Amino acid sequence: MSNQLDIRIDVSRARSGAVTSAHGVTADELREIEPRVLKAHEQLLREREEKKYGFFDLYKHDAVFADIREKAAHFSSFGYENLVVLGIGGSALGITALNTALNLPYWNMLSRAARKGRPRLFVMDNIDPDTFKVMMRLCPPKKTLYNVISKSGETAETICQLLIIVEKLEKEVGAAAMKDHLVVTTSPKGPNAPKSLLHPVAETYNLVSFEIPLNVGGRFSVFSPVGMFPAAMLGMDLDGLREGCARMDIRCSLPSVTLNSAYLRAVYHYLLDTRKGKHIAVMMPYSDALRDIADWYRQLWAESLGKRFAMDGTEVFAGQTPVKALGATDQHSQIQLYREGPNDKIITMIDVQRFSSTLKVPDVLPQISGVDYLRGKTMNRLMNAEFLGTMDALKASHRPVIRITFPRITPSTVAQLLYMLEVETAMAGKLYRVNAFDQPGVEEGKKNARKRMGGE
Ligand code: PA5
Repeated sequence: MSNQLDIRIDVSRARSGAVTSAHGVTADELREIEPRVLKAHEQLLREREEKKYGFFDLYKHDAVFADIREKAAHFSSFGYENLVVLGIGGSALGITALNTALNLPYWNMLSRAARKGRPRLFVMDNIDPDTFKVMMRLCPPKKTLYNVISKSGETAETICQLLIIVEKLEKEVGAAAMKDHLVVTTSPKGPNAPKSLLHPVAETYNLVSFEIPLNVGGRFSVFSPVGMFPAAMLGMDLDGLREGCARMDIRCSLPSVTLNSAYLRAVYHYLLDTRKGKHIAVMMPYSDALRDIADWYRQLWAESLGKRFAMDGTEVFAGQTPVKALGATDQHSQIQLYREGPNDKIITMIDVQRFSSTLKVPDVLPQISGVDYLRGKTMNRLMNAEFLGTMDALKASHRPVIRITFPRITPSTVAQLLYMLEVETAMAGKLYRVNAFDQPGVEEGKKNARKRMGGE
């Protein structure tokens, strides 16, 4: 496999040599933590073999991908104008990130021809009645496929949305045609599985259903049918995504702190958080296409590592606060703080070497002096200069930065990033000694809300 197609990770600006030992990782700290990382690596390998965590191998599931393709082809033959995802958290953020990264900007405003006959996408990940009502106006049931996604099958927000949609579908397309408009994605049936409320719904209307494996948590589920069925409906290159996972899986299986990109990033984040006071992890892509990946990562990092108790039961209040930002936009919003405010952040800056388009700055307005530096150049070059200029400015202020470079934004490179961030989070869980795969703090809020609504 050629390196030309791989994303690259550069931690040199988060080392003590670049930002001083008060703010960067030292060679001694790396040496000292290495045995812990190697031990955690063995543990992760073992747990992967035991199928404790399913996310590692989702991309290998040929039969699941074949099923997704077949069903996506079936539903695509109806020529729907809209695909509406009903889901929240891990059931919503993955497909949003993929659509923004891999489909054209302003997707929903493009003509059907520009979308190559693929549907518009509406990801309903909230219960704001104003938004939901407008979505229903924009997406009449006859022209819409709904995909309700919930692993537990009992999340109040998603079930509330579903009830509203079922009523509308019954009225407008009829119960018999419901199976042409509604697809269910939830946990499999079984003695150890949660009793998903979506199972009886699927049975009642004879709906197509996809399974979320029990060993895959919501925020780690993007390469399961949760992300892959909508991706297939939107015409994304599933093979390219799988290839990206496979490439990164090779890199993230190396028992090495330096060669394994996921472990390297986990170690830098952990050390800088616990030893140098970098309690905030910023992700700042210099690309509109990658902005929602920062949002997806924000959930992954927060929900996985923000834990009161360590695995041995001691109270630790672990976790680093993830923040999303966008370059160059947020240079005019956040960088003042990042450079001169508290030195409490590790910043991941992401650049793209080749955008799909090149936009030349025309040689106009000769009467305006002082803009010659722009005339005849490209917007691409300005973006690159903003990126490099900000990195240098952050270094001058001793702010640690990890750089991730995309040669181009493709299904493969996007999948590489997502896969690496998942493995990084799993390793970080081991370093913080917390369970990265549960979310007790969320569950309690869910239960409380249900009680307040008069439920059990
Ligand atoms: O990562 C997680 O497990 C959560 O964010 C869930 O995805 C989210 O709470 C939605 O849960 P469910 O898919 O059960 O509706």
